[in-house]
Amino acid sequence: MPNFDKDSVFGTLLVAFGVCLVCAIVVSVAAVTLQPAQQANIERDRQMNILAAAGLYDPTRPVADQFAQIQTRVVDLRTGRYSDAIDPATYNPLQAAKTPELSASFADLGTPDKAKIGRREHHALVYLVTADNGTLDKLILPIRGYGLWSTLQGFVALESDLNTIAGLGFFAHAETPGLGGEVDNPAWKASWIGKQLFAADQLAIQVIKGKVVPTNPAANHQIDGLAGATLTTRGVHNLIRFWLGDQGFAPYLQNLKTEGT
Ligand SMILES: Cc1cc2nc3c(=O)[nH]c(=O)nc-3n(C[C@H](O)[C@H](O)[C@H](O)COP(=O)(O)O)c2cc1C
Repeated sequence: MPNFDKDSVFGTLLVAFGVCLVCAIVVSVAAVTLQPAQQANIERDRQMNILAAAGLYDPTRPVADQFAQIQTRVVDLRTGRYSDAIDPATYNPLQAAKTPELSASFADLGTPDKAKIGRREHHALVYLVTADNGTLDKLILPIRGYGLWSTLQGFVALESDLNTIAGLGFFAHAETPGLGGEVDNPAWKASWIGKQLFAADQLAIQVIKGKVVPTNPAANHQIDGLAGATLTTRGVHNLIRFWLGDQGFAPYLQNLKTEGT
């Protein structure tokens, strides 16, 4: 090795370069070797959110064991029928929504983009909880839409009548804690349970401004608005109505009701 003065400019640069190189190698190796663990954590988190939306999550049991009772299917939102051409294990709906061949613009759909999602993917993932005899116990549907600051992503779970809400939860959003962030408040989430989506086959669920009046004949379709967060409230109202509506899961639910699961 050639002799050099480590206090010279060259020596300083060489030492700095050496330190950078070692750090870069450490970071790169860590990033590559931890990637499978990160992917496993993301998948575990997704499964946990699906279970939690349906009120099935038990923190004392491994998530994978609990998720084993759930069957994931791909639904073609254009027809409301299952599509076996797409592998649910690798399908990414959010990616599909950004891909013109795999999604539709709202101009194509002929409806305003009320949930403010930009484009709607042709295919969605749905999650079925079935009893031991194979009958549907709960159906969990993905929902998303814009609030005030962010796109809220979550799930709504339905009872086997495909009308009664079994649970709702958002796993990603950036609404303000204490205001729009109250979508995560357990009491507010619990207030969705038992509410009815449809009245005489018409979509009737609504998130209102203010509090639900229990004596109102429509009360079993209404959810309290979030105090001081009218815009997030309106976003949730719009997104739930979009995803349960004609350009969302309504055709699929109709098919399930008339033809069974
Ligand atoms: C810092 C800050 C954060 C806010 N965050 C939210 C929010 O997350 N969601 C929301 O709907 N409104 C939020 N607001 C309030 C809205 O700007 C708007 O005033 C509110 O939605 C009106 O609701 P109200 O009619 O119930 O008062 C925020 C306001 C401020 C100043």
